[in-house]
Amino acid sequence: MSHFGSYDDRAANFSWSIAEKELEYTPGGVINIGWYCTDRICENGSGDKKALIWEGTGAQSKSYTYNELRVATNTIGAFLRNLGIQPEDRVCLFMDRIPELYLGFLGVLKIGAVAQPLFSAFGEESLFVRLDDARTRAIITQRKHVGKIRKIIDQMPYLEFIIIVDHDRKKELREREIPFWLDDARPVEMLDVHPTKAESPSVLHYTSGTTGRPKGVQHVHYSLISQYLTTKWVLDIQENDIYWCTADPGWVTGTSYGIIGPFAMGATQCVQDIGFSAENWYRWIEKQKVTVWYSAPTAIRSLMKAGDAIVKKFDLSSLRHLASVGEPLNAEAVIWSQRVYGLPFHDTYWQTETGSIVISNFPGMKIKPGSMGRAFPGVTSAILDLKSYEPITEPGRVGLIALRPDWPALMRGYWKNPETYAKKFVNGWYLPGDRSSIDKEGYFWFAGRDDDIINTAGHLVSPFEVESALLEHPAVAESAVVAKPDDVNMEVVKAFVTLKPGFEPTDDLELDIMNFIRKKLSSLAMPQEIEYVESLPKTRSGKIMRRLLRAQEWGEEIGDVSTLEND
Ligand code: WTA
Repeated sequence: MSHFGSYDDRAANFSWSIAEKELEYTPGGVINIGWYCTDRICENGSGDKKALIWEGTGAQSKSYTYNELRVATNTIGAFLRNLGIQPEDRVCLFMDRIPELYLGFLGVLKIGAVAQPLFSAFGEESLFVRLDDARTRAIITQRKHVGKIRKIIDQMPYLEFIIIVDHDRKKELREREIPFWLDDARPVEMLDVHPTKAESPSVLHYTSGTTGRPKGVQHVHYSLISQYLTTKWVLDIQENDIYWCTADPGWVTGTSYGIIGPFAMGATQCVQDIGFSAENWYRWIEKQKVTVWYSAPTAIRSLMKAGDAIVKKFDLSSLRHLASVGEPLNAEAVIWSQRVYGLPFHDTYWQTETGSIVISNFPGMKIKPGSMGRAFPGVTSAILDLKSYEPITEPGRVGLIALRPDWPALMRGYWKNPETYAKKFVNGWYLPGDRSSIDKEGYFWFAGRDDDIINTAGHLVSPFEVESALLEHPAVAESAVVAKPDDVNMEVVKAFVTLKPGFEPTDDLELDIMNFIRKKLSSLAMPQEIEYVESLPKTRSGKIMRRLLRAQEWGEEIGDVSTLEND
């Protein structure tokens, strides 16, 4: 029996107080995510239950019970507090998926500081703009990533502490670098958890903007209410489940549903930091006896590509519930998973800003392959006309997704960017910036983004960020960056460039430019193709017409170019 039951019952009797009561939270009282994910589970008698099972490269493995999770997060919290980290200071977590990333995240929250997770594959430029924007005071990292920080440290006087969790004692530390070995630290049994309230800041996640710099999405401790209830009802985690969320906590899925939701439920979750291959993943499911699996369309398409035969080599019979997020989940993938695993993937839709799932296929609900499902009870939704912003009443017509901004996990602002934040709201609706239609039964059918952001393998890449980085390459005069279709990643980054005089459009130069972006930004942002052009299409006012180039890539009708002129 799923936790969810029937959609109509849930919708008719819904109130967020259901979650407040289950979590024994009294409005106006203290609510600290770090405490809820550790101490509370122990107080409720599950201290000996496994919380985290981890495996890394080279057959390394570790596991933590809830009591060990509680003490380890206390230890990290106390260490940071002793350094002088204050409530609301930003502390960046810049690590691969090692236990310290998960423990550090909760330790930061326990002392009331703001956790700022960043994807460890970011290059120095991606890292710098996000630390600089947040005025980050401390960064917790691994020695393999310290080199990137050293390159930019001189430009960041506010970054006082670089905490290295696996420092090699034989190596020298530079100024501001501090070693911290969790296994050697004196365990802190008792920690005064900071008495954060509902609106106290918790997590600062950076997401790509269409035009300006990446935006810092501000969340608060009260987000727990939505994250807890959606984990319970949508991911359907139950007492004896082994849960696997494949997302990296550098991105929001890896925090909302890779840390907060499951630990607040007292679930056992497993984490693998080994890298993707169909074989690795299936072996992991078999070994850990994974029951609930939350993944993403690109991974599912890669598994489809790996074929049906390999599935039969493993015992995947433990699987009970599958869900997906991050990009459109094509109907074929749902049908395929039903055939090979005997279970469909349940698509879920949400974003960094929404903080928690807002639209989804619920356990037990009829799935229409290709549809994102229905709005979470308690989230009021509509589709608005693209021009008038009036709600569309007829089913099937595409418009903008609109949500009443009243669920607990919705962001509270973009860090130091109130103008962009204000633009996300129209006529009392929050607009995520995606297009969709709704059918007669209230199912959403995704129809694309309403901006130029590229969604590659579920990761959002800003064309603006890539174009700015390209201009720093000595050979590039101008550039335009758009999405290009891709079988597995759905979209990949493609750059059109014009060269400065004296540079030849060679294959070597193409590789050089690609590498330049990979190092500066990340492998995700690296163009998979560079097309040299003599000139770029521009509007009369000189703005590059990205949409024209994009339409060419997708073989879409370009139509009357003059309508693009004013974009
Ligand atoms: C897209 C990830 C289609 C969408 C949790 C959204 C999806 C953006 C789906 C957020 C889905 C997410 N179907 N598109 N099920 N889920 N998206 O902030 O464009 O990294 O706005 O959060 O991904 O990406 P973000």
